[in-house]
Amino acid sequence: MSEPILELKEVDVHYGVIQALKKVSLHIDEGETVSLIGSNGAGKSTLLMSIFGQPRASAGQILFRGTDITHKSSHYVASNGVAQAPEGRRVFPDMSVEENLLMGTIPIGTAHADEDMQRMFELFPRLKERRNQRAMTMSGGEQQMLAIARALMSRPKLLLLDEPSLGLAPIVVKQIFQTLRELATTGMTIFLVEQNANHALRLSDRAYVMVTGEIRLSGSGEELLGNQEVRNAYLGGH
Ligand SMILES: Nc1ncnc2c1ncn2[C@@H]1O[C@H](COP(=O)(O)OP(=O)(O)OP(=O)(O)O)[C@@H](O)[C@H]1O
Ligand SMILES: [Mg+2]
Repeated sequence: MSEPILELKEVDVHYGVIQALKKVSLHIDEGETVSLIGSNGAGKSTLLMSIFGQPRASAGQILFRGTDITHKSSHYVASNGVAQAPEGRRVFPDMSVEENLLMGTIPIGTAHADEDMQRMFELFPRLKERRNQRAMTMSGGEQQMLAIARALMSRPKLLLLDEPSLGLAPIVVKQIFQTLRELATTGMTIFLVEQNANHALRLSDRAYVMVTGEIRLSGSGEELLGNQEVRNAYLGGH
């Protein structure tokens, strides 16, 4: 069995007196696509951000490729191979597509920038058409693609995605998941947070279900798609 690329061991996170994560344990193996599903406020974004130490875990341990990163800086985590497309597709609004992609190289430098930008344009042809357009004038779907492409520009070993489908039309959601599937077949390790449980579970090798800061269930994507509790809570009971 391969060693996990990411491992959380009994991680707690507090915001003041509020405990947002309660003894969260999970692992992601190299090359896997794993999703984390759960309702609003369950703690999904908190979990992703805690990998970068913002917020910091108040107990437990976070390991990346065997190294304890629980107390490392977000810069350390980013330059060692973790990239995130954060919730709300935060792009630099006044910058062009190309300039946004260049910002993604900050953790590793620009040595591979041209080559990697071409790769992003193959993965997201729409971004190529819009390479000189300012990000703020692009559609929500295009901005989401840009946020993912920018994260990939740091050549991550682990890609974290926080609700890439949020607020997008079904056809755009489908395109984004199609691209994630392509990315997964290139061997990229993906950790995906989603409220769109149906798409997420169908894409994923495995998934975790989070309820009020705790991992409630885990299993293969297929198992969870068939699980009655999951169907009732996240798939509209169908
Ligand atoms: N900066 C903060 N300060 C205080 N409380 C916070 C902060 N960020 C999040 N919380 C609280 O922590 C809990 C988990 O929030 P989090 O954003 O991780 O949930 P989520 O699962 O990502 O929700 P959503 O699906 O709505 O994005 C919530 O109760 C939230 O109000
Ligand atoms: Mg969130």
